[in-house]
Amino acid sequence: MTVLYDNIGELVTNDPAQGDGSLLGLVRDAAMVVDGDRIAWVGPTGKAPAAEQRVDCGNASVIPGFVDSHAHLVFAGDRAAEFAARMSGAAYDGGGIATTVSATRAASERELSDNVDRLVGELLRSGVTTFETKSGYGLTVADEVRALDIAGRTTAETTFLGAHVVPAEYRDRRDDYVGLVAGDMLTACAPRARWIDVFCDRGAFDVDEARTILLAGADAGLGLRMHASQLAAGPGIKLAVELGAASVDHCTYADDGDLEALAASNTVATLLPGAEFSTRAPWPDGRRFVEAGVSIALATDCNPGTSYTTSMPFCIAMAVRDMHLTPAEALRAATKGGASALRRDDVGVLAPGMRADFVRLDAPSYVHLAYRPGVPIVDDVVQSGAPTQRKQIEQ
Ligand code: NIG
Ligand code: FE
Repeated sequence: MTVLYDNIGELVTNDPAQGDGSLLGLVRDAAMVVDGDRIAWVGPTGKAPAAEQRVDCGNASVIPGFVDSHAHLVFAGDRAAEFAARMSGAAYDGGGIATTVSATRAASERELSDNVDRLVGELLRSGVTTFETKSGYGLTVADEVRALDIAGRTTAETTFLGAHVVPAEYRDRRDDYVGLVAGDMLTACAPRARWIDVFCDRGAFDVDEARTILLAGADAGLGLRMHASQLAAGPGIKLAVELGAASVDHCTYADDGDLEALAASNTVATLLPGAEFSTRAPWPDGRRFVEAGVSIALATDCNPGTSYTTSMPFCIAMAVRDMHLTPAEALRAATKGGASALRRDDVGVLAPGMRADFVRLDAPSYVHLAYRPGVPIVDDVVQSGAPTQRKQIEQ
């Protein structure tokens, strides 16, 4: 089945070979032909080939579906009180992770998977058409396996995060926990994951522990990702670069040396503005990253502690307002940037051969994502060629 989407006022392709030649590859008065789950043609409306069906996009802006490369969706419980305490001056130190670990261990598989389904629905409604999700709130072999099994029913981008924090029962023998994560837990989890991640930061895992775990993960065939420099400056970002990680995430306290190392690598720096918002941390300056030549992504970091949002438009608005990215840079980071952070070349760009994942905005321009913060302008979401949310598109 071929479908022609026409009367697109502004199409963001992320393909500089299209349209105005900018990084966003903007095409005005555009059309797009979708064949099954793939894009078959993109260009000006006047030149569009015929198709079996036609959808009028009402002169609106159409953008690639968001690619959320960092989320923690498998959890139980609520930490609203912890958030409220922070908003009254308490600091975030990662200690609340233990609260979620207890609630997650106590929850049934059904409760966990219903919660994941609820959050996946929210992501989709916010325009996210590809997402990653992590384990990391189980921290026993059985609970990490269970988390990855649940995650794997919703996405191919599953990440083993046994190294989130050292659980309470290992507090006095952390070497044993590192050995477990890099040993039996990894053996059980590797077949269920595409990636391995370590929280390398003050109060979590140090750089030697992170290296041990990541190298074991690589040996088990997993791609590498890291949480680093969220709570304090440290050697985590340089370790991610050294090990060839696909992405290093947070980077709140990245210094000039970190940016230099990132710029010379193919490790993406994933910025997570929801975490700075929700922990009242200082904003990393996205402009510094761009000007240093670092590839960046934007992701929701959806989790119950530091960033309980599934809204990519909200993250874009924060990245523009408070991380000093331009609206174009922020949108690109939330789409093509996320795809690069997941080493995916089939999403994040609207060009022939790519997966037909796109969003029609109730707006004339993508700039409205930041210009109209908090307003639900994501109107229609098409994933693999299939409309999943339809306010106005009629087929
Ligand atoms: O990405 N930093 C580590 N992990 C999460 C927070 C986890 C939590 O507080 O529950 C993050 O911010
Ligand atoms: Fe995270």
